[in-house]
Amino acid sequence: MPSVKHNDMPPTTLMRRISFSRYPSPPPPSVSGPPLRLRLRPLQLTLRRFNSSSATPTTISLLGRTYPTDGWTNITPSITAHLSQNLHLQPSHPISITRSLIESRFPSPTYTHHNHLSPIVTTAQNFDSLGFPSDHPGRARSDTYYINAGHVLRTHTSAHQLDLFKANHAPGFLVSADVYRRDAIDRSHYPVFHQMEGARGWDLAKTSVAEINDETEYLASLTASLQVEDLHPPFHEQTNPLQPQHSSEAAAAVAAHLKRSLESVVLALFTSAPNPDADADADSPSSSSSSSSSSTPAPPLKVRWVEAYFPFTSPSWELEVFWRGSWLELLGCGIVQHPILTAANLPSSHISWAFGVGLERIAMVLFGIPDIRLFWSTDDRFTAQFIQGEVTRFIEFSKFPGTLRDIAFWLPGGVEDGEDTGGANSGAGGPAVHENDIMEIIRNVGGDLVEDVLLKDQFTHPKTKRASRCYRVHYRSLERTLTSEEVNAKHAELEKALKEALGVEIR
Ligand code: DAH
Repeated sequence: MPSVKHNDMPPTTLMRRISFSRYPSPPPPSVSGPPLRLRLRPLQLTLRRFNSSSATPTTISLLGRTYPTDGWTNITPSITAHLSQNLHLQPSHPISITRSLIESRFPSPTYTHHNHLSPIVTTAQNFDSLGFPSDHPGRARSDTYYINAGHVLRTHTSAHQLDLFKANHAPGFLVSADVYRRDAIDRSHYPVFHQMEGARGWDLAKTSVAEINDETEYLASLTASLQVEDLHPPFHEQTNPLQPQHSSEAAAAVAAHLKRSLESVVLALFTSAPNPDADADADSPSSSSSSSSSSTPAPPLKVRWVEAYFPFTSPSWELEVFWRGSWLELLGCGIVQHPILTAANLPSSHISWAFGVGLERIAMVLFGIPDIRLFWSTDDRFTAQFIQGEVTRFIEFSKFPGTLRDIAFWLPGGVEDGEDTGGANSGAGGPAVHENDIMEIIRNVGGDLVEDVLLKDQFTHPKTKRASRCYRVHYRSLERTLTSEEVNAKHAELEKALKEALGVEIR
């Protein structure tokens, strides 16, 4: 099974998997964005295909509301088709089972649960309210689905933080929802996935730090069997600062409550998973029931905390779990930036933690689901396997053969400096093409028949300075064997679409 990490760095082999970092972007200004991306192309790029064709309306109706389109619009029918599918609400779907398991660790009435919030949010909700700088890469049209300049398909459940802090229904909240990001194509990336957001706050004018610590102690008692590595101090002036509004005592108490809460979730999740398989790594927490020796106790489940950066928390961390031989990044979290709470009209004595977790990644591990596309399958060989409230091992019904097809083309425009860094085709006067635009076109044409896309090679012609790319498209259906005629037809359609939309020249 491939890695299910969202943040994998592409391997430095010739053939690289297209992959990129998610929101835990490095702190500005030291790093200028994820590596190996093609430079942003001007707006008209995808509009030519998706917005200015004669069939494209000047308004779009989505979920019962009509929105004017504009130069930012880049949503496509293949994306909007997912808008009301709500996998997280189908009781016997692995995404919903995973959601319920996590929810059970954050019970009401301390936490309110929100599972029906609209995926269409304003750019203010998705970015501004959380303190995203105006040049944050997450705002780019290459990364986010815009309905128009002011509305996006939420890219994360954090988009609801400010509104829920404002509503202040209870000390804490959970939001589970579908989120949307333009992205690479492979077995662990899909443009629609599900996240759960959680937050918990205290008014320190009403609750003492000792009371928070008491609750934390109880949480810690639940996770005694977990092996936790937490090497960093709670805050670090340069790398993970305490906010000026917080005392170190209060922030340390809230951080500890956050960490113990999430550790208890991880323990509950990973001990509910059935034995992955007999050849599981010896470090796997489930290997006790493997063929080795029944008298050998299961090694403890291991997790570790690593420092992170998010625009809306400080200090911030990521939690990783050691699962079948490698560290798997599970979630991001931290102490909510005080200005967000102030904007929510909470008193200045209020302090809160928050976290965000991807449900597909966890469900893939727990259920042993090898391909993210399977979550969307309506084939009852998939859907009938799962039972509400139970984590069961996915039984692969069949692995249908795949077919590889290469597509090689010259990008429009030249390259300024003969050096091809794997990044931009920054042609003098020529438009730059963003890799996600290429992926979007492949997705639109190939849909779920495309399993993954690899950059096979790239070079710049020494004389003409034109940039060439060759991608290897892996066509494979999860439900049937594809004929070579239909793959050929799809691939020809793809060539045509790339030519029309991006102005590439097929080689
Ligand atoms: N929204 C972040 C993402 O999608 C995840 C996250 C990180 C959520 C930290 C949080 C948080 O609430 O505190 O990558």
